[in-house]
Amino acid sequence: MKQSAESVAALYPPANPPHSKIDPAIPEYLQKVYWWAYLHPNAVRLFEREWLVNLILWGNFSRLRDLALAELGDTIDQRVLQVACVYGDFTQRIAARLGAQGRLDVVDVAPIQIDNLRRKLASDDRIRLHRQDSSALHFADASFDSTLLFFLLHEQPEAVRRATLAEAIRVTRPGGKIVIVDYHSPKRSNPLRYVMKGILKALEPFACDLWQKEIASYLPSSFKPESLVKSTCFGDLYQEIVIIR
Ligand SMILES: C[S@@+](CC[C@H](N)C(=O)[O-])C[C@H]1O[C@@H](n2cnc3c(N)ncnc32)[C@H](O)[C@@H]1O
Repeated sequence: MKQSAESVAALYPPANPPHSKIDPAIPEYLQKVYWWAYLHPNAVRLFEREWLVNLILWGNFSRLRDLALAELGDTIDQRVLQVACVYGDFTQRIAARLGAQGRLDVVDVAPIQIDNLRRKLASDDRIRLHRQDSSALHFADASFDSTLLFFLLHEQPEAVRRATLAEAIRVTRPGGKIVIVDYHSPKRSNPLRYVMKGILKALEPFACDLWQKEIASYLPSSFKPESLVKSTCFGDLYQEIVIIR
């Protein structure tokens, strides 16, 4: 029997109590829906290929990665948080821009993803990797100047997505930036609309939420951003949101 995104989401509430310092459990949605992409050793072996990541994004990986990086500037002399590992060279590109004062923290809930990222990075005192759940971060309020969420929210059930956004806001300083890159509802004239609908429905049960609702609608209702700018590309299939807290 087919389940609606809402009923599937209700099955997967945030797994980890807010701000607990113990190692987080692997959320149920990752174990049940995404084990083949992120948790199985063969997944890392298969997907850790630049061309494949690029193919999954219809040739747009570099473009979308560079959109996010452009928000940080050519030299990064600020404290940056990357929420969740990304296949390909996303993190290495941030690392390459770090200035003497720059700091990069990356969190992921899956140990295999942290280990994989560690292998991709040269040892660097300015970079720290942490095992944390995006919906219950361990960092103090206002710890970062910029926080990045690259194709994470569409993978999360609604309750987790809301908690992840609330945490991203909490750990970013007032006046700092939250940069989100993710799926968006494509234009009706975009021929990939129908192909992507099938792919996402079959493989990514929470992703169609982002076709139906604005990401802004998942922000805490009490949050009043200094600014929120959304742009879309590739026939609206992808969006970038830049929030100044
Ligand atoms: C950023 S998302 C998708 C990125 C993109 N599809 C790619 O090319 O890698 C994938 C990562 O999110 C992580 N992840 C998913 N849910 C998480 C959570 N609640 N907390 C922290 N990391 C999470 C997964 O372990 C995985 O490493």
